Amino acid sequence: MIKGLIFDLDGVITDTAEFHYLAWKSLAQKIGIEIDREFNEQLKGISRMESLDLILKHGNKEQDFTEEEKEALATQKNDEYKESIKEITPEDLLPGIEKLLKEAKERNLGMVLASASKNGPAIMDNLQITDLFDGIVDPASLKAGKPDPEIFVRGAEMLGLDPSECVGLEDAEAGIEAINGAHMFSVGVGSKEAMKEADYAVEDTSQLDLNTILEKAGQ
Ligand code: G6P
Ligand code: MG
Repeated sequence: MIKGLIFDLDGVITDTAEFHYLAWKSLAQKIGIEIDREFNEQLKGISRMESLDLILKHGNKEQDFTEEEKEALATQKNDEYKESIKEITPEDLLPGIEKLLKEAKERNLGMVLASASKNGPAIMDNLQITDLFDGIVDPASLKAGKPDPEIFVRGAEMLGLDPSECVGLEDAEAGIEAINGAHMFSVGVGSKEAMKEADYAVEDTSQLDLNTILEKAGQ
């Protein structure tokens, strides 16, 4: 029986996946690298420094910067990103998410955030949804990020549940791989192509319906 939902944040709860993309695009341009939306699919779900490494590799510039310079580039990206998330309000919950969170709460399902973002707690506060959640997995405490299953396994542990009693929701290919690796039912949000490994997928969050999810997860 499903007793818990483990949520990704960026691109599932709110549209910050777009802000991450725009901030990386502008940072990349400053160092002479072009990235597009197709390439950006690889950046979803992975940490800040891993994203920078992929961008540098994409532009054949992985040898051009010292660790210190890379730290500075990542900080520059994060500063621009933080500017975009400053103004987030509850209105920025993606379509259908408020209803989903409230229905899950009414049914006493446990809810945990499993995001790689160090900005996660601030965004949750701005969205005014922190209180609906039972916990947030601290990405800094993980041995390995997505696609490793650790973050979702830890999310289930926080709820005192077995992964098989939880559903994971994601918009990233790396995230779906992490949920599947945790032996949890995976719900994907995004294109059919990007979400092809998900146990159940919808094109956008407005199509997320709690009853359907629980039914698909075999309840
Ligand atoms: C999420 C996003 C990624 C982002 C990562 C780290 O997983 O999908 O695009 O790079 O979090 O976010 P942060 O806010 O810590 O830079
Ligand atoms: Mg995401």
